[in-house]
Order: sequence, then C-alpha cells, then structure tokens
Amino acid sequence: MSTTGNNAPALPAAAVGPDESAHSDLVRQLLTEALSRTGSGTGASRTPQPVPPKGVPGLSHLSAVENHSPVPPVHPSAQPAAPKLAESEKSPSTPSGGHSPDNGESYAFGEPRCNGSYRPQNNRPDTKVANRNPLPGLAEAESATPEYYFLRGAQPAGKSPLACQSYPKTTTPIPKFDVEGVRRDFPALHQTVNGRPLVWLDNAATTHKPQAVLDATAQFYGRDNSNIHRAAHTLAARSTELFEAGREKVRKFLGAADAKEIIFVRGTTEAINLVAQSYGRKNISAGDEIIVTELEHHANIVPWQLLAEQVGATVRVIPINDRGELILEEYVKLIGDRTKFVSVAHVSNSLGTVNPVEQIIALAHARGVPVLVDGAQSTPHLPVNVAALNADFYAFSGHKIFGPTGIGALYGKAALLEAMPPWQGGGHMIKDVRFEKTVFQHAPEKFEAGTPDIAGVVGLGAAIDYLFKVGIPAIAAYEHALLEYATHALSAIPGLRPIGTAPNKASVLSFVIPGVANETIARQLDKQGIAVRAGHHCAQPAIRHFGLETSVRPSLAFYNTREEIDALVRALHSLKRS
Ligand code: ALA
Repeated sequence: MSTTGNNAPALPAAAVGPDESAHSDLVRQLLTEALSRTGSGTGASRTPQPVPPKGVPGLSHLSAVENHSPVPPVHPSAQPAAPKLAESEKSPSTPSGGHSPDNGESYAFGEPRCNGSYRPQNNRPDTKVANRNPLPGLAEAESATPEYYFLRGAQPAGKSPLACQSYPKTTTPIPKFDVEGVRRDFPALHQTVNGRPLVWLDNAATTHKPQAVLDATAQFYGRDNSNIHRAAHTLAARSTELFEAGREKVRKFLGAADAKEIIFVRGTTEAINLVAQSYGRKNISAGDEIIVTELEHHANIVPWQLLAEQVGATVRVIPINDRGELILEEYVKLIGDRTKFVSVAHVSNSLGTVNPVEQIIALAHARGVPVLVDGAQSTPHLPVNVAALNADFYAFSGHKIFGPTGIGALYGKAALLEAMPPWQGGGHMIKDVRFEKTVFQHAPEKFEAGTPDIAGVVGLGAAIDYLFKVGIPAIAAYEHALLEYATHALSAIPGLRPIGTAPNKASVLSFVIPGVANETIARQLDKQGIAVRAGHHCAQPAIRHFGLETSVRPSLAFYNTREEIDALVRALHSLKRS
C-alpha cells in the first residue's frame, strides 16, 4: 500500500497556480477532454451502476436542478500572508519553504506572499492547453450557483490573498431569519459556562439538539420501546414503523429515489468503512488506485489506506492550493485506467471549503469510476440532493445535523448496494441460515446486522423534520451572511492568520495567532464561555499543508448570532499573549 500524489513522492511543498482565467479555461478543457473520451459531454445519465457508463453524466443538467451544490470557479493559488510562526506552531514534517519563479525570491511557509501572481512550480505538471472549448453546461451551472455560497470579497481574481488585505465589511443584509426563535428550541444553548452565557462555536465537532429531538427520543424510550422487525406485538410494530419512517425521512433529506438506498450506520466513519470493506474488497485489487483529497477528514483517508494495504492498491491524493481549494487539474491528471474509486468530502471540516463535487463526480463517471461523497460537514449547512449530484454513495452523521450521536446514514445507488457483499454478519441481515449456506437479505437489511440504534433513528428523523421546518435554504443563506460577518470581524484581530480562505466556504473559521498556542487560545475563550475546537481536527494532512500541526476552529450553525461573533472577537482582542 502506498499513498502518493501525482507521480510525486509527496504532496507538493506549496501549491501555486497560474492566473485565474487560465485556470478556469484549463479546467474546462480538461473536463471536456475527459468527458469526450466517452463520446458525449452533455448527457445527464443517472445510470445506477457507473461501470461502464452508458452515457456521460455531463454538467448541463445542473442549472435545471434545485438544491444542487455550487460549482465554483477555480481560483489562482496564492500563499496566504501570515506573520512568522512561533516554533511550536510549525509542522515538523512540512517542507520549510519554496521558491517563487516570478522573482526568484525564496520564501518560508507562513511568510506574507501578497502578490498573488505565482505560476506553477517546477514540480507541477505543465498546465498549458491549446484548445479551450468550454465544457457544455458548465457555464450555466456556474451562473446558477447560489450567491450565498461565496464569501464577499474573498480574494477576487488576481488580487492579493485574503490575509494581505483588510477583509471588506459585508454589505449583505442578514436574511430574515428568526434566530431568536430557533434558539429557544435548543435547551443546551441557554446555560452559563464559567459565569458567562454559553457561546457554542464548536458545531463542526457536534451540534446541540432541539427540544423536538429530545422529546422524540424520550417518547420512544418512555412509550414505544421495542426491538424492531422481530415480533407480532404492538410495541414492535410501533417501533418498526418509527424506524422505517426515519429511513423515509433520510431518503427525502438526501433526495434519494428509494428508501432501500438508505442504510443506517453509526455515522460517516462507519459508512465509509462499510463502502471500503464491502464495495472495495470486492472491486479493488492489486495495482488499482483510490483517489482521495488532501483536505479529507481522517475518516475518509484511513479506511482507504486499510483497504489499500489489504488488497495491494494505492491511495492517490488530489492536492489543495494555499486557500484550501482542490486543484482540479491535478485530479484530471491523477484519474486514469487504474483508478477504481474516488472518495471526497463535500465540505472540509478543517478549512470549510465547499468542494465542486459535481465536477469531481462527472469526471469520475466519464471513466466509469464510482464516487463516495463525505457529507458530514455539508448536510448541516447546505441543501443536498444525491440525485442532482449523481453521487454513487453519500454519507452523513446524525449528531452534526442536530440529531443524536451514534447514528448516521449511508446512501448508495440501489444497483451498487445489491451487488455488494455484507460487511458484518448477524441477526436481521439474513433470509435463511444453515451451516451449509446462509442466504442474505437485500439492501438495506443486508448491511444492518444486529439491533440497530432505533432511538437514534427516531431522533434523527425528528432532527430532519426540524431542519425542514426551519428551511434548509434559509439556513444556508443565514449562515452564509453570518460567515461573512465573522470573517470580516476576525480579520481585525492583530496577527490573526485565517487557515482556509476559499471563497466558497461553509461554517468553518480556522485560524492561528502566531505566538499564542492554539490550546491557550481555546482555554482563554472557554473561560469566557466560548467553545471552539483547537487541534488538528482529525485532518492532519490538510492542516499540515499550511505548515501547522493545529489550528483554532470556531464553526457556525444557524442558531449562532452576530452578538456571539462579537463576543468571540472581543475575547480575542483581550487575549493574554504572554
Ligand atoms: N469530525 C469532527 C470535527 O471535525 C469531530 O471536529
């Protein structure tokens, strides 16, 4: 097993790229070429079994589909500016710098690089293209992208990177959203911590639960509690009905065609392990390649490494640029005849980047390669529709969408699930057991051995009902405006270096303040009742890209307010830096 980038022994030391217009044309060209290999770039195939593709899942359908995710333009890479780091903040394993081909000047990671005019480094493949035919449908898809996904003023083309300029004050009015009303639904938000009102800004780690989720769970245990599917009595019927109603709610939440395509699991981590061990063990073998990205959560790296180790495959990595965006040109070069699977986050948990998963999926399908999307950090913030994305697998966790811990779901296309072997054996997943031979159920039961987390499914269903009641598009718009407000407000903190400055972000505001340890910052904030995560966020490769081992990570949800952001900023202004 090995994990490599594009024929390089390690990920590039600094991701740099050409100017934005060239980048966009380049990606269009490469996408067009990739798609044209299968004969058409305009089909909107929804073939459930992606190998071999019957038609090319082009992008032209996207503009017509509601609830699709954004297709951002690809922007130039640029080195985010930062003051020099304290030794303790630097990553020991990260190369210490690079060399600008523009002016021959050497630089170290973390030093200000404000000209935004880098060209590819020598260790980058040649990215020049002659023919610049636009990819059919891409322009419409881009223009149909809801504006609220993009941060106002975040690194306009050819301008200085974010940290080199004062982040412009947002003029976006916070959309009409009854934040005080929703806050009343969350009991945990109304407490004091260390004598201050709790400010919960650790939503990427887990979210608080509305009363409706607490009530549904309590009612299940207080009234309906029974095992499911296994008895003729009334309580078994009730709990079975509640459990299957939860499956239908997840189906609707993800925009899947059939509830049989929804498998209940412990969470995103278990979902990815299931796909790796079931689909992967059956379809991936020695010499094959699995593509992930540099910004993945460990849950979307390690299961693939384990699989690669078991079968003799290789994990390859799409690199990110210095704003935390995937470099699609590198992806196009990585994907090839050996590629058997692509697995990518929809939204990065450490950087907040919203990835262009439609493009990633379209390119993979053009090669007959299935794609899993890790939706742990998208589902709390953005409308998701697996049919519009044409994702083969999509995973999320209940506790990140205001539901209980220990429950989550995996969506898989029916034809793929049917062809996959079980990955755990036990009760409920069988039709018939004999010592000579056991016959399995169909999906989803085939993948749900043993007594599941019935109360968890009931609570998850209540969380989904709640999200639909509040309105997921309204949540996305409100959070976007709040993210803009917070990004601007944080830029006023002396020395603060934002980590992850893609224009297309959701929820996450990672940063470091050189000279102050990240854990110290988090502890000082906690003394003021403000909860943030400091650490590597289970995404060490992503954080190390920035020459760091850890960052401080406030992360937003729809129940956060401007006043809470103001409290965070006040606390950071009064930070003891000694
Ligand atoms: N995956 C969770 C996080 O990002 C725990 O913090």
